[in-house]
Amino acid sequence: MKILVVGNGGREHAIVWTLLQSPQVTQVLCVPGNGGTAMMDRCQNLSFRMDDFGGIARFAEVNGVALVVVGPELPLSLGITDYLQNRNIPVFGPTRAGAQIESSKTWAKSIMEEARVPTPRSATFTDLTTACAYIEQQGAPIVVKADGLASGKGVVVAETVQDALNAVELLFAQDYGKLLIEEYITGQEISVIALTDGKTIRPLLPAQDHKRIGDGDTGANTGGMGAYAPAPLATPALMKRIQYEVLEPTLATLKRKRIDYRGVLYAGLMITPNGDPKVLEFNCRFGDPETQAILPLLTTPLIELLLACVEQRLAALPPIEWKPAVSTCVTIAAHGYPGSYERGKVIGGIDSANANDGTIVFQAGTQIKQNRLVTDGGRVLSVTSIAPDFVTAIDRAYQGARLITFEGMYYRQDIAQRALG
Ligand code: GLY
Repeated sequence: MKILVVGNGGREHAIVWTLLQSPQVTQVLCVPGNGGTAMMDRCQNLSFRMDDFGGIARFAEVNGVALVVVGPELPLSLGITDYLQNRNIPVFGPTRAGAQIESSKTWAKSIMEEARVPTPRSATFTDLTTACAYIEQQGAPIVVKADGLASGKGVVVAETVQDALNAVELLFAQDYGKLLIEEYITGQEISVIALTDGKTIRPLLPAQDHKRIGDGDTGANTGGMGAYAPAPLATPALMKRIQYEVLEPTLATLKRKRIDYRGVLYAGLMITPNGDPKVLEFNCRFGDPETQAILPLLTTPLIELLLACVEQRLAALPPIEWKPAVSTCVTIAAHGYPGSYERGKVIGGIDSANANDGTIVFQAGTQIKQNRLVTDGGRVLSVTSIAPDFVTAIDRAYQGARLITFEGMYYRQDIAQRALG
C-alpha cells in the first residue's frame, strides 16, 4: 500500500516513520518532506507545493496511492480534503468546513458554546474601540487571540491592560478583522489528540508540550521545545471527563452542523487548579512536537487507525494498544529561534543518537544539500526516547541530544521534568 503524507515537519517525519513500521505500507511519498524523510528507506520526497492540490491529486491517481494523510493545518484550511474527496482519493483530515475549528477561533468558540464544552469566557470584536473598552472594563491579565491561522503568533497573554491594548492594536493593524478576547485562566496545559471518523472519537495518549523557549517555561512562545507522553496529570478519571465533556459533545455538534469530520481533533486543555478541564483551543491536525512523543509508544498499526477513520469503522476496532513505556522528546532549535536564525548549518551525530537505546531522532527543519544534511528551519530536530519510566526516558533523550552537532544548536534542559512530580 502506498501512502502520501503532506507536510515537512518533525510531526510528518514521525507519521512516516510510524506508518513504515507496518508491513502493509510498502512506500510513503512525502510532499514536500524534509531531510529526515529523504533519508528513509521506502520513502520518497516529492517536490510539489503543499497547496498544489491538482498536482498531488494527479500523482495519487497515477501512482495508486491508497491514502493521503495531511499533517499541517494550512492545506486543510485551504480545502485539500474537499479537493481530494471530489476526486475519490481517500484522505485523512477534515474538510475545509471542519478545519475552521482551528482556522477560526471565533467559530471554534461558537461550537464550544453550542456543545456546552467547558472553556474560558470570551467575547468577539471587529473594531478597535469596542475591543479596547472591553479590555479596560475586564482588566488584566487577559488573553487576546487573532481569528485566523497565525503560526502560533496570534495569541497574546497580556499581563497588563496596556499590553492587551497594544496587542489588539497590532493584530487589527495586521489585518486580522476579528479578535477573540478571553478570560485568563491558570493551571497546567495538556494536549489530547483524538482520532475520529465523524461518528466515534478515541483519544491517543495525553501529552504535555513545552511552548516557551527557556527553561522553567520562560521567554518567547515557540512552536514547541519538547513534549512527553503519557502526561501523568491526565489520570484515567480526567480522560473520561475529557471524553464525555469535551470530545463527544464537540463531535456531536459538528455532526449537527452537517460537518462530516474525519481526522484528528486536538484539544488543547487547561487543567485548572481544582482539576477541571477547560478547552483553550482546538486544532484540526496532529500536534507538533506531541506527535513525536506519542507515536513511538503506539502498538496498534497507525495505518489501521487512519484507514478506520476514513472508512468510518472506528467503533469496530479493538481498543488502541500502547507499549508499557513513556517518552520524552527534546526539540533542538537553531540559534535565534523563535526570532530570526540562519539556515544551512551542517548537522552531525544523528546516527550515533539513533543508536542510543530507545532513541529516534525525528527531523523537522532539515534538508539534504550537496549530499550533506543541513539545517533548514528554526526547530531542527526532535530527539525522542522511550523507556519504562520518565527518569530513564529523559536521560536517554538528553544523551541523544548531546550527540548531535551543528553550529548554534540550542535545547531546553528541563523537558519532562514536570512528569517527575
Ligand atoms: N504543540 C502545539 C501545537 O501543535 O499546536
